[in-house]
Order: sequence, then C-alpha cells, then structure tokens
Amino acid sequence: MSTNKDSIMIVAGTRPEAIKIAPLIWWLDKLGVDYIFIWSGQHYDYEMSKIFFEQLRLPEPDEYLDVGAQAQDVAQQVALLIQRLVSTIKRRNPKIIYALGDTNTTLAAALASVYTAKPFVHDEAGMRSFDPSMLEENNRKMADAIANFRLAPTKIAVLNLLYEGAPPHTIKLVGSAVVDALLYVISHKLLKEEILNTYELKPSQYLVFTVHRRENLTDKKLYQITSLLTEMSNKLPNYKMIFPVHPHTRKRLEETGLLKTLSFCNNIVLTAPLGYFEFITLIKEARVVVTDSGGVQEEAFILGKRIITLRKITEWPETFILGYNHLTDLNDINEAIDIIIKSVEAPEPIPPQLSTCPLGDGNTGQRVAKLLQKIAETNIERESKGDGYPLPRLTTSIKDLALCFKNGLPFVYESSEECTNKLCVSRENLTQEEMFQIVKTDWSMIDKILGL
Ligand code: UD1
Ligand code: UDP
Repeated sequence: MSTNKDSIMIVAGTRPEAIKIAPLIWWLDKLGVDYIFIWSGQHYDYEMSKIFFEQLRLPEPDEYLDVGAQAQDVAQQVALLIQRLVSTIKRRNPKIIYALGDTNTTLAAALASVYTAKPFVHDEAGMRSFDPSMLEENNRKMADAIANFRLAPTKIAVLNLLYEGAPPHTIKLVGSAVVDALLYVISHKLLKEEILNTYELKPSQYLVFTVHRRENLTDKKLYQITSLLTEMSNKLPNYKMIFPVHPHTRKRLEETGLLKTLSFCNNIVLTAPLGYFEFITLIKEARVVVTDSGGVQEEAFILGKRIITLRKITEWPETFILGYNHLTDLNDINEAIDIIIKSVEAPEPIPPQLSTCPLGDGNTGQRVAKLLQKIAETNIERESKGDGYPLPRLTTSIKDLALCFKNGLPFVYESSEECTNKLCVSRENLTQEEMFQIVKTDWSMIDKILGL
C-alpha cells in the first residue's frame, strides 16, 4: 500500500549515513512507499557525499540544507541543522521523521522532531561505547531518549536500551544495513585488479588504515598516529599501508606538518577518500584493517578480517567478543605495533555466517522499509505512549539474559543466574564458540516476530 508523499521524512547528511540509508531507499522504492529525502550537507565534498549517491543509486535529495561548509564549529553546525530542519518539517509536514546513527545530523533530526511535535524513528538505536567524551555517544543517547521507535542493529543494542529503561514495545531488532550495502557491492563484479593496480598493491600484502574521529585528531594523538604509521612502515617492510585520508584528518595533518612526514614513507599510500566500491574492494583483499571508524569495523568483521581499532572502546562489541577486533588507544605505541604485527602474522579468521551474524543478515533495508510503512500508516503522535509494535522476541527469552560489563564492554549471559556480579564479570571461562552462541541472532525468526 502506498502512503502519501511526504509522510515519511528521511534525514541524512554524512558518508556513513549515505551508505546505510541506501538499502532502506531501495526497499521503499520497491514497495512503492513515498518518502521525502533530506540531505543536510554536513558532508559536502564529492568524495564524502555525491559519490555514494552515484554508486549506491540514491535519488537526488528533495531538499539540500547546505550546512557543512557554513558552520564554524560543532555548536553552530547543530544550531544551523536544527533551524533548517525545523523550517523544512513545518513546510513539508511529514507524519514521521527517520534518522540513523550518531552524527550531528542525527541529533538535530531528533531535536527538530521534538520542536515540531513529530514522531521520531531512530535507527542504530542502543549502540553504546560507554565513553561520554565521544560526541557520538552523546548524540546517540539523546536521539534514543527522544525516539518513539528505536530500531536496534544487534541483540546487545536491544539489551542496552532495555537496561536504560526504554519501553520494550518501542524497540525493534532489525540488524545493520551496512551488511545489505556491503552485499550489494560484492555481488557486483569488483574491479579488483584495476583498483589494486591503481595503488600498486598485491592481495594480502597491504593493510588498510583510516582515522578520522575528533578525539584522535588532537596534536598529541596525531603525533602518536604518525609514529604508529612510520613504525609500521619500518617493521613491516614487505607490506604497504593504504590510508584514504578523511578531509578533517588531512586538514589536521597539514596543520601539524605531519602529512609531509607520512608522505616520505615509501610504503605508505596516502589517497583522497575513496568511493564505496573501491574501498570495499581494498578491505576485501587486505591483510589487516587498522581504523577508528565504526562502519569500517563492521565491514571488516563481515569480510572476516582482523581489525585493530584505535580506540579504548567500541560500540560494536560483537567484533571484539568474537576475537576479530583488538582495541588499542595509542598510548603505548609498542603494544599497538605488537598487536598489528601479530595480526598480520595470524591466519585469517573465518567470516561469520550471515544467517546468524550478530550484525545482520542483509535484510535490514527491507525490514526497516516495511516497519516505516506500518508506522506511517498508523496514527501515532509524538506524545502517544502506547502505540508501538510488540518487542521482537530474541532467540533467547529476554528475561533470562543478563548483560554484564567488564572494562566497559557489555557481555551477555544466557541465564541471569550465571552472572553473579552485574557490574564486572569475566569472560575468561567462555570459549569463542560459546560467545558466538551468545551474540548470534537467528534472523529467520525476526520478520515473523515483527509481523512483516
Ligand atoms: C562526522 C560524525 C562522525 C562520523 C563521521 C563520518 C558527528 C559528530 N560526527 O564526523 O560520527 O564518523 O562524520 O565520516 O557528526 N570536512 C570537509 N568536507 C566534507 C566533510 C567534512 O572538508 O565533506 C571537514 C571540515 O573541515 C569539517 C570537518 O571535516 O569541519 C569535520 O566534519 P564533521 O562533519 O563536522 O565531522 P566528522 O569528523 O566528519
Ligand atoms: N568509506 C569509504 N571510503 C573511504 C573510507 C570509508 O567508502 O575512503 C566507507 C566505509 O566503507 C564505511 C563508511 O565509509 O561504510 C564509514 O564511514 P566513516 O569511517 O567516515 O564513519 P563512521 O562509520 O566511523 O561513522
């Protein structure tokens, strides 16, 4: 059944949002559901926005809010985003507003929904790094607090929401749409040789490196990152490091004079940000991935790569729990180098099976499109309390699961009795297979549970 034009407003504005909303847009189009698509322009360079529209078949946005290049700082960016979104919402009068993730665009969409009394659907709900110094952690918590519907990518995200007191009927387990986008790319004939030849790389003989998080761009962290890269370059002379540089990182590396240092290392390949097809091909053929990106951790995990995450914490704990991901916050470069070298030397892990993959099964876009269609057809209002859909039952009954934390990382136990101390529980006694059993999701059940 088709809904009125303008009934669902989709708000996005950064590279990861362009990638992750693509599967939703494909499915809304396939189902004949109308929507209005707003691009905030938080990311505005061709390599950070338009290229993904072209490669992932995104339509021209109905409105382009053009905030990116105009804002001087985060506060002004968020203020501009809210002002422009509020006036667009008032003019377009949608029934519901949808946004994904943890960017300033996401937060502004959530707040604009409050100021215009519109119901808000937050996708990627329940992701937590438990690091309040990250802008993104604050953005996603606020968006979750405001949301009427919380679409969670993982079982752990559902549990995080429940532990914070979100009403169960507002939470839906849907998976992460990055799995859909990734499958779309690898189902195409990848121009593997052409891409590897462009950068003079050989399969499995290089590492992919990305860094862009604000907290990693201080002078101190940039010096540490540069030391890490030059050490990697010395200690792994038979490997190349390909580093597609985010525009913010490039600006900061130029300001600190470190870009020059890096450009002198002949096995470090610095490039502009890459298109999705090119970037996924590089990950697929890489030996190891070193990153601080959320999306790249997900993709490297799905492709069965070893990941070294340049943070002390991750909002994708499944990748860590299952042994694919190592965390290092760069304060000990020798330790970080050691982990990287060990990862390069270790055999490649087996990629997770999609039917039970903790991050999704590739059907998230379809699931979210159908849920949005249902929500738009229901007469809900921002103030309404009880109009959700029933909580998707998980593979294990929710009341039997216990979520525990060790060093800030959540762990889920099958039975709450097993978890005696809810604040600090060791995972030493669990085998990797047992851990997989705990985080894996039986996606074949989910659509039935959601009534889709
Ligand atoms: C944002 C998100 C972050 C996400 C990242 C994806 C927030 C708080 N953070 O961070 O969660 O991981 O996007 O890449 O929203 N710039 C350009 N051209 C562009 C875009 C950015 O030159 O097209 C430069 C500008 O100098 C800008 C800086 O990058 O000031 C930072 O951009 P911004 O969108 O504020 O944050 P990101 O670091 O990209
Ligand atoms: N990506 C890309 N080209 C690049 C670097 C990243 O297409 O040069 C993609 C990557 O595959 C992932 C997404 O961008 O899907 C991640 O975006 P980013 O790292 O900017 O943000 P985060 O996921 O950390 O929010």
